[in-house]
Amino acid sequence: SRPAMRLLRGPLLSFHHDPGDSDAPAEGSVFHDEDGAILIEGGLIRRVGHYAALAEDLPANIETIDYRGKLMMPGFIDTHVHYVQLDIMACWGRQLLDWLNDYTFPEECRFARQVHADVIAEAFLDESLRVGTTTAQVFCTSHPGSVDAFFTAARRRGLRMLAGKVLMDRHAPPELLDSPLGGLADSERLIADWHGRDRLGYTLTPRFAPTSTREQLDATGGVLASAPDLHLQTHLSENHGEVDWVAELFPESHDYLDVYERHGLVGPRSTFAHGIHLTQPMRQRLADAGANVAFCPTSNLFLGSGLFDRQACRQAGLTVSLASDVGGGTDLSPLGSLKAAYQVGQLLGQPLTAWQGFYQLTLGNARALRLDEHIGQLRPGGEADIVILDPDASPLLKRQNARCRNLAERLFALMMLGDDRAVHATWANGECVHQRLD
Ligand code: GUN
Ligand code: ZN
Repeated sequence: SRPAMRLLRGPLLSFHHDPGDSDAPAEGSVFHDEDGAILIEGGLIRRVGHYAALAEDLPANIETIDYRGKLMMPGFIDTHVHYVQLDIMACWGRQLLDWLNDYTFPEECRFARQVHADVIAEAFLDESLRVGTTTAQVFCTSHPGSVDAFFTAARRRGLRMLAGKVLMDRHAPPELLDSPLGGLADSERLIADWHGRDRLGYTLTPRFAPTSTREQLDATGGVLASAPDLHLQTHLSENHGEVDWVAELFPESHDYLDVYERHGLVGPRSTFAHGIHLTQPMRQRLADAGANVAFCPTSNLFLGSGLFDRQACRQAGLTVSLASDVGGGTDLSPLGSLKAAYQVGQLLGQPLTAWQGFYQLTLGNARALRLDEHIGQLRPGGEADIVILDPDASPLLKRQNARCRNLAERLFALMMLGDDRAVHATWANGECVHQRLD
């Protein structure tokens, strides 16, 4: 049977390219239509444009979904999140290294039980879709079963997702440790089972330098060199205590990034979470490698890690992505990350514009993850992952929306006051996968 064709009608917003950091978006970067429409066939977008133009030659009996008064955008992307930390969000009073030992590692031990992994994977995806996130790059635990649980759940929902098994062979409870070769053997098995299957992709996931031996980092670099279509994710220069510890553990390296460089982990599909305490030459080296740094504002504030200098990264030509980093992060909602990113920016004299913010969540993050041939835009041939925002979702949003004079103001109100309530519906792979019930 032919795949279903559907027409979504309503205001739409997408980006052709980076709008820049000025108040007004760069010429030609914004694609906005107040009475737009998206024609979907199967999992793909067939046509996008003005409703009247699309309505002229539609097949008979096409199903039209009326989203007038809402705002349709490409599905949001979260470039760094730990699904296994869903249940330790909001644990009080620690910075990174104590937080890992006191809350994170004990919680991750629970994923030795397959049923626990299965339950949390489903809960995490329910929540992600409820906040409009259709793609994420995800840390699992060191248990291979935690990856099977995640990919099984994501595949059943038709989602484009990246994930990987945490590699860690030292400095954590023994139940969480793998071995240099065992960890890579498990990763190879998971790559064979999941990488490239439907919309899933595998990300090599050494947790961070302190929890891997040189042997493990080296073996990971070897796998990446032999399979350059894999992604890689880790943490970098998040916290002062962590940076000092890395210097002690790797005296042969002249800085933290050098540890990853020596082992061949810094490439165009590499995501480094945080990157707060970096020098400009380090940012330059990351930029030269085509890597991206994931700015995780709610996490940086929650763990007291520091203020991410987005402008310094951009000046170095380093790609910045935006991420929740739950459970260090306090909000799965990309709108919550935008709000915190704006606040961090204010403290550094570099406030984030709404244009840049929504670009970042969509095409910006898609480009950072090298997924922009599939997702991140509303365009013909692109995958039909779409979030439907409701600018009147809450009493306060409604008051702001009534006051707003233009799209920029409406977007900014969503950034400051929006949460899961502002997500009216979420579509993935051409199907409605979340519908808010008022
Ligand atoms: N560094 C190493 N592991 C982690 C983690 O789980 N969360 C954060 N925020 N930083 C880390
Ligand atoms: Zn993290």
